[in-house]
Amino acid sequence: MEKLAKLNISEEDLESEFSHLGYQSGFGNHFSSEAKPGALPVGQNNPLKCPYGLYAEQVSGTAFTVPRKLNQRSWLYRIKPSVTHEPFHPRVPSHDYLISEFNQSSSSATPTQLRWSPFGIPDTKTNFIDGLFTICGAGSSFLRHGFAVHMYAANASMEGCAFANADGDFLIVPQQGRLWITTELGRLQVSPGEIVVLQQGFRYSIDLPDGPSRGYVVEVFSGHFQLPDLGPIGANGLASPPDFLTPTAWFEDKAYPGYTIVHKFGGSLFTAKQNFSPFNVVAWHGNYAPYKYDLKKFCPFNTVLFDHGDPSINTVLTVPSEKPGVAVVDFVIFPPRWLVAEHTFRPPYYHRNCMSEFMGLIYGNYEAKADGFQPGGASLHSCMTPHGPDTSTFEKTIAEEDDAKPAKIRDTMAFMFESSLIPRITPWVLKSPHLDNDYYKCWTGLKSHFHQEHLPENGELHS
Ligand SMILES: [Fe+2]
Repeated sequence: MEKLAKLNISEEDLESEFSHLGYQSGFGNHFSSEAKPGALPVGQNNPLKCPYGLYAEQVSGTAFTVPRKLNQRSWLYRIKPSVTHEPFHPRVPSHDYLISEFNQSSSSATPTQLRWSPFGIPDTKTNFIDGLFTICGAGSSFLRHGFAVHMYAANASMEGCAFANADGDFLIVPQQGRLWITTELGRLQVSPGEIVVLQQGFRYSIDLPDGPSRGYVVEVFSGHFQLPDLGPIGANGLASPPDFLTPTAWFEDKAYPGYTIVHKFGGSLFTAKQNFSPFNVVAWHGNYAPYKYDLKKFCPFNTVLFDHGDPSINTVLTVPSEKPGVAVVDFVIFPPRWLVAEHTFRPPYYHRNCMSEFMGLIYGNYEAKADGFQPGGASLHSCMTPHGPDTSTFEKTIAEEDDAKPAKIRDTMAFMFESSLIPRITPWVLKSPHLDNDYYKCWTGLKSHFHQEHLPENGELHS
């Protein structure tokens, strides 16, 4: 907030501005936006002289030569180009809790089911960058393959600095506190219950208008998020393209002595000084741009007769691997919805998955865990590690016999980052006091219901 106070804007005016921002609707569109009329060149991308004396700069989100349907790039028209800065130096102090190379020296492998209670928000002044810490991941940002799961716990706005990430795209899931994000392409307000994708390379600054703030981040080194194919579902359902919102051009023509670009490169932070605001893009066009999405707009599909559907039915966004149908990362949600299945164990089934599952909870309760999985907490069930409903959820469910009426799961939003890659865990979260060492006990009470006599079970009764 202090940073913006320097711009002589009152808190009330800022609240009003961020609450009433205009956005461009659509997923993967070729957008155009001008903060001043006529700022976009007509008929070409980099004329000898751009309108208003602006510099033209392209940001490439894919290799120049990828197939057209996958190609992502934007052209930015700015007061000074982003190259106008002093050399990069390793940041002092370094950031010791970020990893982009997952190997035996940086992280550990364990098949154990892991769960963490909500991570605390620091008492000392901590912004989004310093509030980030890696939980797990696989692969390498240098090899352009893999992912990392981070969380952030912070209480202060970024002041006099912008963050940029050369390693991958961030998909941020705020759990507590709004984010006011100023990017080179415009501004976004992102509230808990919404997500935002900030792609590799863009510079942005995050303010925390609500003070103490916490959330989850999945960083993907391999590519960009796309909407999942819908297959037999048809042309509609799940996340709808018009509900994705991209900012409109916004700029400040502002000298800013000592402004710092904090650049994440190979998991390390580097800084470079410049004397002007990086948010000086007067107009831009292209299909490589940040966007946000309100999870409440997701249109869930679900079983309407029997059996529990696979969680892939709730995929919001996916980063595919080179293997058909296999994701580097799927972002899946468990939103409010009706449960109507007959003669069915309605909570998630017990399972072992060749994919690895990191779960978080934004608000409410998760249907497979009666307690212990709290908003702001997390769990990790890795490749082929068994998991499923806890003892009390199982017992409560089967006690209903076959009398369960249609029921609505209300006021909850859990999510999963699911990956075909097997995550390694960072040492600090394995040593964290938030690690629930008794997690396994939520299943140890599961008792045998086996009986030697063959009695008609629910399924047979209804066949
Ligand atoms: Fe699972």
